[in-house]
Parts: sequence; C-alpha cells; structure tokens
Amino acid sequence: MNARSLLPLRAATGAGRLSIDGLDAEALADEFGTPLYVYDAATLRERAAAYVEPLTAAGGRAVFALKANATPAVLRVLRDAGLGADVASAGEIAAALAAGFNGRDLVVHGNAKGSDDLDAALAAGAGLVVLDAPEEAALLAGKAAAAGIVQDVLVRVTPDIDVDTHAKVRTGHAGSKFGLDPDAARALLTSLPTGLRGRGLHVHLGSQVVDAGPLQAAATWCAAFCAEAGLTPEILDLGGGLGVAYTPTEATPDPRAYASALAVAVPAAFAAAGLAAPSLILEPGRSVVANAGITLYRVRVVKRTAAGTTWVSVDGGMADNPRVALYDAPYRPFLATRLDDPATGRYAVAGRHCESGDILALDVDLPSPRPGDLVAVPMTGAYHATMASNYNQFGRPAAVLVDGGAATLVTRRETAADLLAREIP
Ligand SMILES: Cc1ncc(COP(=O)(O)O)c(C=O)c1O
Repeated sequence: MNARSLLPLRAATGAGRLSIDGLDAEALADEFGTPLYVYDAATLRERAAAYVEPLTAAGGRAVFALKANATPAVLRVLRDAGLGADVASAGEIAAALAAGFNGRDLVVHGNAKGSDDLDAALAAGAGLVVLDAPEEAALLAGKAAAAGIVQDVLVRVTPDIDVDTHAKVRTGHAGSKFGLDPDAARALLTSLPTGLRGRGLHVHLGSQVVDAGPLQAAATWCAAFCAEAGLTPEILDLGGGLGVAYTPTEATPDPRAYASALAVAVPAAFAAAGLAAPSLILEPGRSVVANAGITLYRVRVVKRTAAGTTWVSVDGGMADNPRVALYDAPYRPFLATRLDDPATGRYAVAGRHCESGDILALDVDLPSPRPGDLVAVPMTGAYHATMASNYNQFGRPAAVLVDGGAATLVTRRETAADLLAREIP
C-alpha cells in the first residue's frame, strides 16, 4: 500500500478501497470512465494556503504556474485561495482569464514569446511581463507605446547556480536557454525602452528542488548583483521549483516551511548587501497540484513474458502521463479496490500505446492484478493533463474535481470527432 503522504488530503483507504472525499474510486471510474484525472479541492486549498499565508504576511505574493495544471476549474480553486497566475503563452493567459484571474494577477513568462503572447498580455492588463531577451523588450515596448500603456516588467537573470535535479528541468545554470547572463540582464534593466517600467529581477533555477537552500543562494546572489550594479529592485521573483515525493521512499518537501524560509532569507540577504528588501514573488506549480491528483485506469491485459516480467497493461499510458518516458519519473500505482490483498509479486505497469517506453511504473508490488481491476496512480496532478498528447489518436482523459463530497466533471473526455475537427477537409 502507498504511503499516506502520496494521497490527496481527502483520500481514504478503509475496507480495502480507495475513496476521495467519501466518493468510492470505482464508482467514479464507472460514472466518468477511465483513464480519469481526479483532483481533490481540499488538497489544492491546503497547498495554496501553504504559500499564500507566509508570503502575504511578508508583503509578497505567490503565483501558480499554469504549466503544471491549466484546468480552469482547478485554477478557480487556487484563485479563490489567493494565488495569482504565472502564465507562459496566450493560451495560458486565456485559461487564467477563463478561471477568473484579473490581469494584474498575471506574471507572463516565456523564453521566446510571440507577438500573440505579448498582445494577449497587454490586452489582459498583465501585472508583470518577465523579459527574457532585449529583442522581446523592444517588441513589447513598441506595442505598449502604441496602446498608450506603460508595462511593468522584470528581467530574468541566469545566476549560474546549479541545482541537483534532472537535466531537462534545470534552468539557472550558465548556458541555459532561459534568462540573460548577468551583464546582459544589467544592461537591459538599466536601459529599458520607453513604454516599459522595470520593477525588478526574476530567477528560476529549476524544478524538483527539495528545499529552500538553492533559492536562498539565489537571493544572496541577487542581492550582491544588485548592490554591485547599483540596482534597487522593488520585486524579486525567485520562480518555482519546490519538488514533491512521487514514491514513499523520497523525502517529502514542505511548501510552508520553504515559503516561510524564503520570506525571511530575502530581506536578510538584501539587508546584508545594504539594500532595502524587495517584495518576494514565488511561482510554485508542481508542489501545489501534484498531490491533489490521482489518475484512475482499468487493467486490460496481464501478460507474463519469457524473460520473467509480468506486464499489467492499462487503458492509458504515455499520452496522459509522458513523465516516465521524459524523465524516468517514478510512480507507485496500486489496485484501488484491493488494497488489503497481499502482494503476490513484482509487476510492471504499461500503457496501451505503440512504444516500448510506454510504461507507468516498473517493479511494483501488487496482488495478482486481473483484467478489469482499477489501478490508481497518485501524485498525478502536475504536468500530466498539461503535457498530455493524442498519440495513437486517443482522446485525452476526462477530469473530475472532488469537493464537499461531490464530484463534478470539469474536463470532458476528448472524442475522435474532436481530434478530426481540426483536419481539412
Ligand atoms: C519560470 C517558471 N516559473 C515557475 C515554474 C514552476 O515550477 P515548479 O512546477 O517546479 O514549481 C517553472 C517551471 O518550469 C518555470 O519555468
């Protein structure tokens, strides 16, 4: 059985069955079909509060990174809990607005923003645009001037601080495609074109960071950089990045302790450099939503190979969870209605897609899985729906939000007709 920490707040495992907020997982699967993303609103609220409370108390702000989950119904819960929105495209801006965020709640990102992204940011009245390159500054300034707007901006700097995480989600090192080298960042911030108002600096070191240490180092670096460059930022945005435990053996990072530590570390670092404290923004994604999500699948086939592996193939896979293929991400699936049955061996859980890399988990202890069994994969609220594809022309899964003992369909299942709708003729 999985460790409690991997499950949403309102999940329970009594009588050998998984339920969420009192709703039996099997009943959810029967009603809404599988694969099914299930989100627990209570977990979303608790995780949002872990950031909002310490940061607001310190005069800062937390903005949720929509790249982790852009489901408007999920976003609405997070907005009501006090989070702003970190958006990285015109599409994410549209999702944030659909969820009821105001323009001033938006922090707009992207290392290669297009004209459409900048137009959407200006039309929304975005609170901050984070500049990633001088040519983007020129483009945005021209648009802002044409619209008679002065747009508040941050400049993203790359401090060359390495973090111990997967190379594909590391961004703060020299040579990163994101942000500007210190000299280029200083030059841009001190000579912004008319139409842009510089409010401060942005740094994002990477994802799946396990504690506040690397961001504290980034705050110290930024304070020294500002002191040396004669900059007095009003805002320091340290990005997102706090990780989560995907399996019971990993340490579980604590968002409240992390946000509280940074709310203290930033003023301390700037005071030590002889500067006034900027207001702190954090942009958590994964650590707000990963825990809130469980994906439900049905077992279709159980097959023992001559090499000794027993494959348990389910009705989803790499199209709804590409993280295993991308990062070798570990997950701990379990049988949602047979939690009290003793494990009978080690199994590999595979998807239904036409690739050998279509795997959800290897070496999982399970109790003789059978076709029709319900498989639950916890920790699937972040970077699943947003990274899902239509590989093999399968429709993307439906999603339900569970709140107050009721489940609401918030994303309908994609159909073959949806997939053909864009094709001409
Ligand atoms: C600029 C920026 N902010 C925030 C995030 C969210 O990171 P995480 O989901 O690890 O908290 C990312 C993730 O790539 C990012 O690039």
